[in-house]
Amino acid sequence: MSKMNVAIIGVGGIARTHIAGWKDTEYAELVGGADLDETSLNKFAKDHDVTKISADYKDLLDDPSIDIIDVCTPSNYHTQIVLDALAAGKHVICEKPLAPTPDEIRTMIEARDKSGKQLMTAQHFRFQGTSMAMKAEIDTGCMGEIYHARSWMLRRNAAAVRESFILKKNSGGGPCIDIGVHILDLTLWFMGNPEPISVTGVARNEIAKQEGSFSCWGGAIPRNFDVEDFASAFVRFDNGATLILEVSWLLHHYSEKVEDMQMWLYGTQSGSHWPSCELYSSNYDTQQHYNRELKITDNIREPHAQECVAFAEAMSKGEASPVPPEDSLKVQRILDGIYRSQDEGKEVSV
Ligand SMILES: NC(=O)c1ccc[n+]([C@@H]2O[C@H](COP(=O)([O-])OP(=O)(O)OC[C@H]3O[C@@H](n4cnc5c(N)ncnc54)[C@H](O)[C@@H]3O)[C@@H](O)[C@H]2O)c1
Repeated sequence: MSKMNVAIIGVGGIARTHIAGWKDTEYAELVGGADLDETSLNKFAKDHDVTKISADYKDLLDDPSIDIIDVCTPSNYHTQIVLDALAAGKHVICEKPLAPTPDEIRTMIEARDKSGKQLMTAQHFRFQGTSMAMKAEIDTGCMGEIYHARSWMLRRNAAAVRESFILKKNSGGGPCIDIGVHILDLTLWFMGNPEPISVTGVARNEIAKQEGSFSCWGGAIPRNFDVEDFASAFVRFDNGATLILEVSWLLHHYSEKVEDMQMWLYGTQSGSHWPSCELYSSNYDTQQHYNRELKITDNIREPHAQECVAFAEAMSKGEASPVPPEDSLKVQRILDGIYRSQDEGKEVSV
C-alpha cells in the first residue's frame, strides 16, 4: 500500500474540513496547496507545515510527486482545474457541484477515461453515519423496489450572499446547484441510481427580489442576485420510479433548524425516512403495521474528512472512485432539467 501525496487547490473555506481528513489517515499526506489569495496560502503553509505552495495551481500539477489534487475553489473554476489535473495524471477529488452543467461533467468523464485516473465528487452526506446505515439497510433489499421518493433541503432564511453563489454567470444557479446536489445525490444513491428520463420543474425568485430581503448568513440580499431562491420538481426514472424534490435558500418554511433536510422513500416492501433512519412495514397475516429504527454507529470522523479518507484509501488500494462522476452527471441532468422546464413551461427530457 502506498501513501498518496495530496495538494489542495483553493485553501479557503471548505478546504479546512478536507484538511482534517488528509491529516488523519495512514493513506495520505498533505504536501501542497495553491490559492490566488496570498494571505490564505501563507497561513495554510504555516499552519500545516506544507512547503509545496504556489499562486498558480499548474505548478502543483507539474510536480510528479503529487498523486491527488483536491479541488476546493468556487464552483465556476472546477471544470478547467479538474481537466488540467487529470491531464497531468493526478487522481482528483472535487467539491460539489462537480460542475454546473451536464456537458462539463461529460467532458470531465472523457478526460478521466483518457487519463486512466479516478475522479470523485465530494458528496460528504454519503459519509455521514445515518446515510451509511440507511444505504447498507436498503442494499439488503428490505424495501423491495423503491418506486417513489420525496426529498427536500429547505432553508427559510439562509442564502449565500457572495457573488460566486448568487450570480448565475459564476454559479450556474441558486439552491438547486448549491444544495440540491446534496439531497439529490443522496436520494439517487439510496434509490440505486436509476436513470432519470424527464423532469417537470419550477425555479423561482420570489423572496430574494423583495426589497429588504435578508439572509441569516450575511444581511441584505444583494440587488444583483439573479438565481432562483426556491425550486421544486417531479422526476421520472426509466424503471418507473418517481421523485418529488424541493429546495430553497429563502422560503416561508418552518423548521427548528436553519436547514430542513429530509427524505422519504417508498418501496414495495417498506418505506423509510432519513435522517431519522426509521423503516415502516406491514405484516399482512396479523394486519399490523410495524416500525423499526436503525442503530447508528457514530462516524469515526466528520463526514467531509471521512470522504477524503475514503478517496485516499481507494486510490492507495487501486480501487474505483467512491463517488463516481457518472452519479453526479445524473444529478446535474435533473437540475439542468428543472431550469429548462422552468424556461419552457413543460416537462422536458433529460
Ligand atoms: N460540501 C460542502 O458542505 C460545501 C460547503 C461549502 C462550499 N462547498 C463548495 O466548496 C467550493 C468552495 O467554496 P468555499 O465556500 O470554500 O469558497 P471560498 O471562497 O471560501 O474558498 C475558495 C478558495 O479558492 C481560492 N481560489 C479561487 N479561484 C482559484 C484559482 N483559480 N486557483 C487557486 N485558488 C483559487 C480562493 O482564493 C479561496 O481561498 C464550492 O464549490 C462550494 O460549492 C461545499
